Amino acid sequence: MTVDLTATVCGVSFSTPVLSASGTFGYGLELHGLVDPRRLGGVVTKGISLLPRPGNPPPRICETAAGMLNSIGLENVGVERFAAEKIPPLRSLGVKVVANFFGDDEESYVAVAAALDRLEGVSTLELNISCPNVAHGGMRFGTDPTLAGRLVSACRAVTSKPLWAKLTPNVTDIVAVARACVEGGADGLSLVNTLLGMGVDVRTRRPRLGNVLGGLSGPAIKPVALRMVHQVYRARLGVPLVGIGGIATGEDALEFILAGAALVQVGTASFSEPTAMLRITDELRLLCEDQGVTRLADLVGALEV
Ligand SMILES: Cc1cc2nc3c(=O)[nH]c(=O)nc-3n(C[C@H](O)[C@H](O)[C@H](O)COP(=O)(O)O)c2cc1C
Repeated sequence: MTVDLTATVCGVSFSTPVLSASGTFGYGLELHGLVDPRRLGGVVTKGISLLPRPGNPPPRICETAAGMLNSIGLENVGVERFAAEKIPPLRSLGVKVVANFFGDDEESYVAVAAALDRLEGVSTLELNISCPNVAHGGMRFGTDPTLAGRLVSACRAVTSKPLWAKLTPNVTDIVAVARACVEGGADGLSLVNTLLGMGVDVRTRRPRLGNVLGGLSGPAIKPVALRMVHQVYRARLGVPLVGIGGIATGEDALEFILAGAALVQVGTASFSEPTAMLRITDELRLLCEDQGVTRLADLVGALEV
């Protein structure tokens, strides 16, 4: 039995619904020896800013019981080097690229969006309004529906590419922020970024992260992320959803798809198992075969409540 895994989202066709999550798969080619990015639905690249950024002081990552904390602080090469060095090889391989981006303020967000808009080889933009590890920008926009809507609308005005807004789970009402983003012109919503957390080393009596606070990811956050996809899907905002948070198996991915996600992204799972996304895709295919499903897209939102 052949299973059709393709997903068309905002007019862009993805060969499978399994994409790498921003910040967890470099710029798409670092792991080429282990994972051919052409076998993924797509690569969401590390968050890009107008100028290069060094990120936060170390340590920037630590393990937790069911995941990890990170406070990378959006280290990246800046949009100019991204365009000159990172995009051309991905483009010549034919990898579907989603460019994740951010700014310190509205003006810099808009400037990056405009620069990315000119890049052939970038299919979609993912607007990060959800990073918990930076002093400016990031989560400040994602926790305030009015600011979020205004920022989406300003970025929307400078790009003709599909624009997804990536939301933070660090809010009480995810639907309010989601709705504001859609009203601002978002074509899709990615849910979710990391949950704000921290760890303490009892021997040194110091925080485990140089930045003290960081973002929790991995299996620990899956139920929270899934709940948010479900709530936003139920709100019927009329845009496709991208499910992110703790996905480590085909079943995890299918849970998000049934809850309403048209695509999923895998982050933390790739750290302990770089080929996890390929296994997850195979498992999704097998699950469809077991259930006699020939087209995975038919299962989007098929959750029965
Ligand atoms: C080390 C690390 C770096 C990340 N960098 C970014 C980033 O640059 N932009 C962004 O939107 N999300 C970033 N994220 C968040 C992930 O893309 C994803 O939303 C989150 O980790 C939840 O998915 P997971 O549980 O599968 O890891 C990062 C996550 C990790 C662990």
